[in-house]
Order: sequence, then structure tokens, then C-alpha cells
Amino acid sequence: MTILITGGAGFIGCYLVHRLVEADQAVVVYDINIDNIENKDERAVYIQGDISNLDQLKKVFEKYEFESVFHLASILPPKTEEDPYSAFKINIEGTMNVLNTACNHGVKTIIYPSSATVFGPDRKPPFTEEDLRDPWTVYSSFKICNEIIGSIYSKKFDINFRAVRFPVVLGPGADPLSGMSSYPIEMMDDALHGVPYVAEVSPETRIPIIHIEEAVQVLINLWRSDQLHFVIYDIDGLWVTAKEIADGIKKHIPSAEITFKPVEDAMVQKVLTGIKEEKDKDRFGFKGKRMLDEILQEYISRKKPEK
Ligand SMILES: NC(=O)c1ccc[n+]([C@@H]2O[C@H](COP(=O)([O-])OP(=O)(O)OC[C@H]3O[C@@H](n4cnc5c(N)ncnc54)[C@H](O)[C@@H]3O)[C@@H](O)[C@H]2O)c1
Repeated sequence: MTILITGGAGFIGCYLVHRLVEADQAVVVYDINIDNIENKDERAVYIQGDISNLDQLKKVFEKYEFESVFHLASILPPKTEEDPYSAFKINIEGTMNVLNTACNHGVKTIIYPSSATVFGPDRKPPFTEEDLRDPWTVYSSFKICNEIIGSIYSKKFDINFRAVRFPVVLGPGADPLSGMSSYPIEMMDDALHGVPYVAEVSPETRIPIIHIEEAVQVLINLWRSDQLHFVIYDIDGLWVTAKEIADGIKKHIPSAEITFKPVEDAMVQKVLTGIKEEKDKDRFGFKGKRMLDEILQEYISRKKPEK
């Protein structure tokens, strides 16, 4: 039996491919961009294709007998916000193509990474599965739509759809995401290149982060577990302030110049400073979160420019 990973050439996908092939799973990656993959795993099959192209997708399902699908292919912010219509074609129509084709070909399980952004600006951690969803971006509204349609497919058809709402995933290979959650990665990259960085958030801004390898472990646990009570799961991550990140970077790169100049956007500030509490949660075997220092140290040592 083979596993399909849509978007398997992306940041999370590359780590997931590696973990699954290490566990002797046969893996097929279907991604629109398979050129220049930094961490290509030669044991996996890479197919260039677009999830919004139904005929192309069907051919892949006809060729292989997939038992499970990790559906990671997606457009992320800021592109979703700049061009919602194109993002709709991929994130919504593409997801429908994947769900429907998977159903028609007897796929048992679909794993889908959703996002903690579904909770919106008035979110109060810890997040729970019962919390009110309040999307405030095009991206988060598409995530909710896919959670709902996936849940409905799970009820109506013989397929297990399981979603997990990730916080900001950090680690080597991460790209800056939306304007608001990109600062940890930008801070590290600029410090590594000796460029002064001005963060558009206040030092007290607190966001939840998760290390890439833990995020991949969560996806694998979700796929493997046969005792699940929900279709959608929340992962709260490790809550860190922008100042803690800056101080952590300076510990490893003392010359780093990081200053704070919060943008004067009431909505942005509400989103970023509305988070006061701190609480971690363990879910389906997800334990022992990596500490901030370990995450920063690994990122910095792997990305240090050669002299
Ligand atoms: N990185 C995070 O912090 C984070 C947090 C929450 C949720 N997620 C979700 O996890 C998933 C993977 O995110 P990522 O960080 O690896 O992003 P990424 O951009 O690195 O990977 C997405 C992949 O999808 C591919 N893709 C885009 N359009 C496609 C199409 N039409 N057909 C086929 N492939 C296409 C891209 O080429 C890319 O390789 C996404 O669904 C994202 O929303 C990520």
C-alpha cells in the first residue's frame, strides 16, 4: 500500500516524506513544484502535478493504490490574501478534487494540516476543539471550509478525514509565512546575515510555535491512531514572546541587531497582544516540546552562511 503526499515538496512535506520512507512506507509526492527540492528523498516517487487539475490527479490515483493521503498542497499567506481567487482554486477546489478522488479510489485515511488561525483575533488560549471559530483571513476561512467538508465526507462516505490545527511551524527550511507570524524566521535569517532587523510587533507579542519534527510526529500519530474521538485536533504549541526569541538569537549571535517598531494597525495588535495566558497541551502522544533555545540553536547552526 502506498501513501500519497500532496504538497510533499514543501517545508513540512519534505520532513514528512523522509520520516515515512524511513519507516519503510512507499511514498508518492504530488506537487506542482518538484524542481530544486532541497531535501529530496530518492526513495520516494516525485510526480509534478497540480491538485486543481482533476484529470491529472485522477491519473495518479489510477496508477497507484493509495491507502492514505497526507493533503499538504496549499497556497499560504500572504499569497492567499493578495490573490484569493487563485488561492480558492487550489485550497478549496483542489482539496475537493483530492477528497473526491480519494473517496472514489477507496482511500482509507486523509490527514490534513489546518491552522490555529481559525480562531481569529479574539482567541484565548488554550484552544480547544469546542472553541468558536472566527476566521479573519482568506487563508483561515479556507482552512475552516476544508475542515467542514472533510468532516462531512467522513460522516457520509467510507473515509477517515482527520485534521490538526497547527501553530507556527519552525525549523530549517521554513519560509516566512504571513506578515504577522513571519518575524521569528526573518529575525533569525537577518541575524545570520548580519542585517539589522526591525520587528513590526511589540516585544510582548506572544505566538505559539512548534518544531517541524514535532509537527511531523503529530501528523504521523494522527494517521496511525485508531482511537480518535474528534475529526479535528488542536495543537497549542509553545508560547513565546518576540523578546524571548530576540534574546535567544542574541545568545547565539551576539552581534544581532533586533529592534521593535510595532505597526499601528489595531486589528494586528489585537491579534498579537490578545494572548495573555500560557498553557501547553499534550494530545495523542505529543509530549516534550522542544525548548525555544534548542529550536533557535538548530536553525542557526544549519543555516549559518559559509565563510
Ligand atoms: N508552515 C506552517 O507554519 C503551517 C502552519 C499551519 C498549517 N500549515 C499547513 O501545512 C501545509 C503545508 O505547509 P508548508 O509550510 O509545508 O507550506 P509550503 O508552501 O512549504 O508547501 C506547500 C506545498 O504545496 C505545493 N503546492 C502549491 N500549490 C499546489 C498545487 N496546485 N498542486 C500541487 N501542489 C501544490 C507547493 O509547491 C509546496 O511544495 C499547508 O496546508 C499549510 O496551510 C502550515
